[in-house]
Amino acid sequence: MSASTNASENGLKQQGWTWFSQALTQHDTFSGYFQPLIQMLLPQWTTDAYRAQIVDVRDEMSDMYSLVLKPQTGLLDRIWPEFKAGQFIELMVEKEGRRTLRCFSISSSPAYYEKTGLIELSIRIQQKGRITPWIRQQLTIGSLVNISEAQGQFVLPESLLQGPSSEKLLLIAGGSGITPFRSMLQQVHSQHLKGSHALDIHLLYYSRDAQQVLFQQEFEQLEKDCAGLTISFLDSESDGFICSDHLQAYCSDYYQRTAFICGPSPMIQQARKVLAELEVAKDKIYFEFFGAAPLEIENSEQGVVLFQASDKSIVSEKDKTNTLLEQAEQQGLSPVSGCRIGVCHQCICKKKSGVVFNTRTQEYSDTGSEEIQLCISVAQGDVVLDL
Ligand SMILES: Cc1cc2nc3c(=O)[nH]c(=O)nc-3n(C[C@H](O)[C@H](O)[C@H](O)COP(=O)(O)OP(=O)(O)OC[C@H]3O[C@@H](n4cnc5c(N)ncnc54)[C@H](O)[C@@H]3O)c2cc1C
Ligand code: FES
Repeated sequence: MSASTNASENGLKQQGWTWFSQALTQHDTFSGYFQPLIQMLLPQWTTDAYRAQIVDVRDEMSDMYSLVLKPQTGLLDRIWPEFKAGQFIELMVEKEGRRTLRCFSISSSPAYYEKTGLIELSIRIQQKGRITPWIRQQLTIGSLVNISEAQGQFVLPESLLQGPSSEKLLLIAGGSGITPFRSMLQQVHSQHLKGSHALDIHLLYYSRDAQQVLFQQEFEQLEKDCAGLTISFLDSESDGFICSDHLQAYCSDYYQRTAFICGPSPMIQQARKVLAELEVAKDKIYFEFFGAAPLEIENSEQGVVLFQASDKSIVSEKDKTNTLLEQAEQQGLSPVSGCRIGVCHQCICKKKSGVVFNTRTQEYSDTGSEEIQLCISVAQGDVVLDL
């Protein structure tokens, strides 16, 4: 028997053993037992996500690129479910042997997916970010990634998609926060072309630099094609941030409209404040943060957070607003985490007692035992965690 036959036999044995040991130890679903075996045939196949192939990478601006993804439809692939314009997905990549996920809005429409089987993500490179520069450098056409199903409630009102509707919209976008609106407007455009119904949508689109406006030509074309769609391009350097004067000047019937806001957190906060001052009802304002929601605690309570299983504790100081995840890490603990902004639910932990403030829902918990997300929970007084 030759040395190479021996080596390949050993390799197969090794793969078989790896599968057997992983199958016994790492899965809690039936199909999970076969995951390592299936991965030998289909790279990136997992039981908890969908495979997608990168079919194009397009530079849109100096710090922005689009990934064109084709969710896979092979015999063993789970079929990626439908999505609504405005929703986002978690993109999971393996960097240095560690699976990391990041959230991105789908910047193309459901109509485009129906026609081509493709979806697009348009991603701003965060200068000191761990993943957005890495994806641009490392992932190329043909690379396989994992994606979640689409999530989120930041979507067009059903009434607008189903037929003639009197619903008027005000969309306010800042920078890369334009991505969910591109999906929405492409969708509305495709229905408009089918001759379905009249529209009344006004988009206020703020960019940092009037020379570099993401998808400007495409939006100008959409505006030409769709009667009832108005787009105001604003340069936040020269025009300043959103204010009541802008609303009066560009969209004076703002008070009759349902508002959707997406962009950097300070811009969203400013837009919400302006609309509140103009007495627009809270239930007519929808927003999507592209990062952690800002902390809005009026009087945070001092107390001790006890990580009971690890026998460690930390004093949370009055009016200091570290999340429980940050506090656990300060104590040298490494709880499982993913997105760190309350989306992926990987950081769920049992709170045994005490009150926590949820920075995403802006609500306080009960004092009793319940599951909480560490990355968006801030202790209010004494808290005991099963960690
Ligand atoms: C629902 C949702 C939808 C989104 N949709 C989009 C989208 O369509 N397009 C888009 O571009 N983004 C979108 N985002 C934002 C996107 O998820 C983040 O920009 C991305 O996760 C950043 O990943 P990263 O690993 O590159 O940055 P991270 O490493 O996670 O860093 C996050 C931020 O911290 C800063 N930072 C990190 N380390 C340091 C350091 N040492 N010193 C100083 N600063 C530092 C980074 O510059 C960055 O701004 C969305 C977010 C959410 C929640
Ligand atoms: S780490 Fe994703 S929800 Fe907390």
